[in-house]
Amino acid sequence: MSRSVEGFSKWTKEEKIAWVAKNYTHQPDNSIELIKNYWNSDEQLQQLHDEFIENTISNYYLPLGIAPNFLIDGTYYAIPMAIEESSVVAAASKAAKYWSTRGGFTTEILGTEKIGQVHFLYPGEKEKLTDFFNSIKEQLVKDCKPLTANMEKRGGGLSSIELKDKTHDLQHYYQLHCTFETADAMGANFINSCLEQLSKTLEREAINHHIDVEVVMSILSNYVPNCIVRAKVSCPIDELGEIASVPPREFAKKMIQAVSIAKASPYRAVTHNKGIMNGIDAVVIATGNDFRAIEAAAHAYASKDGQYSSLSHAEINGDQFSFWMDIPLAVGTVGGLTKLHPLVKLALEILQNPSAKDLMRIIAVAGLAQNFAAVKSLVTTGIQQGHMKMHLLNILNQLGATVKEKELLSEEFKNKTVSFSNVSKALIKLRS
Ligand code: MEV
Repeated sequence: MSRSVEGFSKWTKEEKIAWVAKNYTHQPDNSIELIKNYWNSDEQLQQLHDEFIENTISNYYLPLGIAPNFLIDGTYYAIPMAIEESSVVAAASKAAKYWSTRGGFTTEILGTEKIGQVHFLYPGEKEKLTDFFNSIKEQLVKDCKPLTANMEKRGGGLSSIELKDKTHDLQHYYQLHCTFETADAMGANFINSCLEQLSKTLEREAINHHIDVEVVMSILSNYVPNCIVRAKVSCPIDELGEIASVPPREFAKKMIQAVSIAKASPYRAVTHNKGIMNGIDAVVIATGNDFRAIEAAAHAYASKDGQYSSLSHAEINGDQFSFWMDIPLAVGTVGGLTKLHPLVKLALEILQNPSAKDLMRIIAVAGLAQNFAAVKSLVTTGIQQGHMKMHLLNILNQLGATVKEKELLSEEFKNKTVSFSNVSKALIKLRS
């Protein structure tokens, strides 16, 4: 055995585990035991998970929590959230409850357009390329028909193909810039298959027309500035109530100041938006969607005006306080893991088997609720109060505290600084 390996993917699971434990861990037997402890006793279920990726050795757990009381466009939802960060589910639930008595959340789908591009190089005259493109446009669409027919039946398909001149950015660089509608699917496979077909047709026709086209690659764009949902809360300022002894008007003003700061300072904006993504990613993961795509799109959108800025907005209009956000969310409720992963299936069932548009609404609301909860704490009590409660629990678990000890020390640390050494000292004292 050695630290480098060949043909690893062809080994059995047991062989892979033995190799990695022996070569990369200090106590191989303990490591093997730990890895196997996380296997599911239902062999069929375990095999299903093994086959999601290559070289699976075990499962990696995240807690799946429920944030109830989300009133969205007049319907109540209990939102499943998969996340490791303590206090996110609690904060979401609190914000949901708070807004449920103030009209709830409203949403609006502003667009569902997806984008993909064939990137290619062409060193000749632009006019010649434009004529060529116009002459093959119909053929491009026609050759995609076998791929788009089913999606068209579901109300989606290839919506447009445009030739884009990018030679100002990069020598000889052009794109076939394509837009798609993908109904309830996230659509990555559909879009990429169409794009690969488009590039084949482009190359074939270029040869036939003696046009010097070199395709570099074909791939969807995860930047989807026209696949946007708006989530909003709004109520008369007086109905905001006193929050942590801050009167309603002052609280509303502080919220607006906090959002203005996130708009003015990229350093603050990144953290502000991270709070939004706490809510968004948790639902995206619970519903089996691609959180990396969602993250990439959200942060690109946050920079759309040339400087990274807040994704959310706040305003006082007369006596009305409003807090809202527009966010790109390319998600699906069919395809991918949605039917395969039993917990994803269950999460979608808990959400009443939403369409992709409804899931966009729910996810955006979870993000807005999280942002509201975080900024509310920041401008009133500070966030450590809430965080420390969960942090304390994590430390106590790490120290092996019993249920009774956790109860007693939670009470004791209500007004004390939580640190690992303080908590371990208090636990030792309690036990003695
Ligand atoms: C922590 O995960 C998220 C916050 O930092 C967000 C924020 O600062 O707005 C609390």
